[in-house]
Order: sequence, then structure tokens, then C-alpha cells
Amino acid sequence: MYPFLLVTHLLAAIAFIGTLFFEVVIWHRARQQLADVSQVTADQAIAVRSRKVLHGVVLLLYGAGIGLAWQYRGALGQPLASSFGLLLSLKILLALSIIGHYLLLAYWLTHACLTTTRASWIRRSILGHMVLIVILAKAMFYWHG
Ligand code: HEM
Repeated sequence: MYPFLLVTHLLAAIAFIGTLFFEVVIWHRARQQLADVSQVTADQAIAVRSRKVLHGVVLLLYGAGIGLAWQYRGALGQPLASSFGLLLSLKILLALSIIGHYLLLAYWLTHACLTTTRASWIRRSILGHMVLIVILAKAMFYWHG
């Protein structure tokens, strides 16, 4: 079961990070070469499609993550007792903070106050969180401070 959860977690993480990387690093600049009307149409089409796909990806990512974390519940129960426990706890906190970002995004969307600037900063912040999460995910096994 564990290898299956690990591969699911890794593939979902790649899909999630890849989508945000595309939106922040590639699309943010590339869209400026289109006419204003086309930018808005393409923005909406990408937002609708990525929201739909990411729902499933996020469920797999967090579901498998919880399954994996269950194996380390001993270390998570005493996060300050080992560098592994500390780094894994930090990684999970950052993952929860990403959920917080999406709640804020949903709030802005439903209250019609999601500006382009807010949308692009929130995506940058989520991508930044993910880079840290991946570094922590690897450091927790190799860094024994
Ligand atoms: C945005 C959210 C997340 C991302 C991008 C992410 C990413 C990753 C990555 C890249 C790895 C390394 C996998 C490998 O090298 O084989 C990993 C491992 C791990 N993740 Fe996550 N993760 C996320 C959320 C979570 C959550 C919410 C939990 C638990 C509640 C979790 C628990 C774990 C555990 C326990 C491992 C270690 C697995 C092992 O190698 O034994 N992750 N994660």
C-alpha cells in the first residue's frame, strides 16, 4: 500500500506544481502577446479547466499525503524530538496554508473582488509554498541537524 500512496502523492504533486508553474512562469508573460479580448477569454478558459482538473489532483495529493503521514504518526506526535518530525510538520503546515490560499481565493471569487493582481500574487505565493514543500520533503530524509 505504501509504495502505491507514495507514487500517487508524487504524481499528483508533479501535476499540481506543473500547473502552477505553467500559469505563473509561462502563461503570465505569454498572454501579453494577445489582444486584450483574447487575454480575458484565454484566462477564463484556463482558469475554468485548471480548477476542474486540480480538484481531483488535490484530492489525490492530500488523500495520499494523509495516508503517508499515518506511517509517521509517532514522529508527528513529537515534532520537536527529531529533525525529521520537525521538517515533516513544517511541510504539512505549508500544505495546509495552501488550502488557506484557496479558501481566500474562493472568498474573493464569491464576493466579486478577485482582481487580476490578487489572482496573480496568490498563484505566486502558492508556487513559492510548493517549492518549499518539495525542498522540505527531500530535506527531511537527508538533513540530520
Ligand atoms: C501541496 C501539497 C503537497 C505537495 C506539493 C507535496 C509534495 C511531496 C513530495 C514531492 C514528496 C516527496 C516524494 C518522493 O520523493 O518520493 C512528498 C513526500 C511526503 N509527503 Fe507530501 N506534499 C504535499 C502535501 C502533503 C500532505 C498534506 C501530507 C500529509 C498530511 C503529506 C505527507 C507527506 C509524507 C509523509 C511524505 C514522505 C513520504 C515518504 O517518502 O515516505 N504531503 N510530498
